[in-house]
Amino acid sequence: MLPGVEAVMLVGGKGTRLRPLTISAPKPMLPAGGVPVTEHQLARARDAGVDRVVLATSYQAEVFEHYFGDGSALGIDLEYVHEDVPLGTGGGIRNVAARLRSGPDDPVLIFNGDVLAASDLRAQIGLHRDRDAQVTMHLVEVDDPRAFGVVTTDADGRVIEFLEKTPSPPTNRINAGCYVFRRSVIDAIPAGRPVSLERETFPQLLAAGANVLGYVDASYWLDLGEPSDFVRGSCDLVLGRLPSSALPGRCGDFLVLSDAEISPTAAVSGGTTVGTGAVVGDGAVVDGCVLFDGCRVEAGAQVRGSVVGRGTVVGPDCVVAEAVLGDDVRIGSRNELLTGVRIFPGTRLGDVSVRFSSDAS
Ligand code: GTP
Repeated sequence: MLPGVEAVMLVGGKGTRLRPLTISAPKPMLPAGGVPVTEHQLARARDAGVDRVVLATSYQAEVFEHYFGDGSALGIDLEYVHEDVPLGTGGGIRNVAARLRSGPDDPVLIFNGDVLAASDLRAQIGLHRDRDAQVTMHLVEVDDPRAFGVVTTDADGRVIEFLEKTPSPPTNRINAGCYVFRRSVIDAIPAGRPVSLERETFPQLLAAGANVLGYVDASYWLDLGEPSDFVRGSCDLVLGRLPSSALPGRCGDFLVLSDAEISPTAAVSGGTTVGTGAVVGDGAVVDGCVLFDGCRVEAGAQVRGSVVGRGTVVGPDCVVAEAVLGDDVRIGSRNELLTGVRIFPGTRLGDVSVRFSSDAS
């Protein structure tokens, strides 16, 4: 356990890559495996012994407090600090400093609010303490590191270089978005202006010869950057590939939330979550999807690898694959929405009339 360790969770980003889902809710509040991404992280922190978390909010800030309140339902003490103007990752951390209770040399955990992970938080803090580090960052190895900040280390695990999103990375080890900071390092971040941890704070610490360590952990890790990542993360939770004590029910091949209706002739699989009050009609196929609350997949529709927004209706015999349908969309019958399609909230698409081969002659 980590008695008395505080954490800061950065949840103020706009989540532009996940639009249109992030028009209706901030990315960390999107439901993965039936509960907000943040809830999985808070449960993980709590399970590791963290007893107090300060959420650094900006975009749609009120949604967090409305859902989590003071954290008592989760067994964790929650506070919220709002940025009227987004202060970036470093500025957001600095902005909560006045609310931290840790002493200058104490470790403070920092999480990005849009990551699903199973790394060993206790081991990361243990390494930080044993090696008297100023910052200890969780590193993971990925196949394609170009979209991430890459981090090179020496043989002792000390960080040598931090390069943000580069076309020819020198390593496949990347910044996984979970750090332990010595409290005094947080206080030294400039206050009252936007600061990027990745572009400003880390390069400056390294240039000053600070003791910045990499903590390499090969367990499950997923950054929810793009819609396909979000769908995968949700399905992985349901399929048990990522354990989480925040999952709202017994999972198997799929997860069904309260008051959902699935026709006995429908086929639901692949880690799909069927949201509260959602309906899956006769003969419909739903594979590897996230169906938000109150949506409907009508009879004969096939939906694969997709997100169906809150209250959205997918009409009879539609084919939807690797698509994102925002909230309150109406898709008429027999439409085909294929790879990469994103439909914005409130959109209406009419029925598609069937063309028989004789029509074409
Ligand atoms: P994209 O716009 O799609 O890149 O997503 P994002 O807005 O979440 O940005 P990014 O993935 O770079 O953010 C990493 C983490 O920092 C996420 O948990 C964000 O919520 C958080 N974050 C980003 N910018 C800010 C900010 O200005 N203030 C605070 N408090 N958090 C931020």
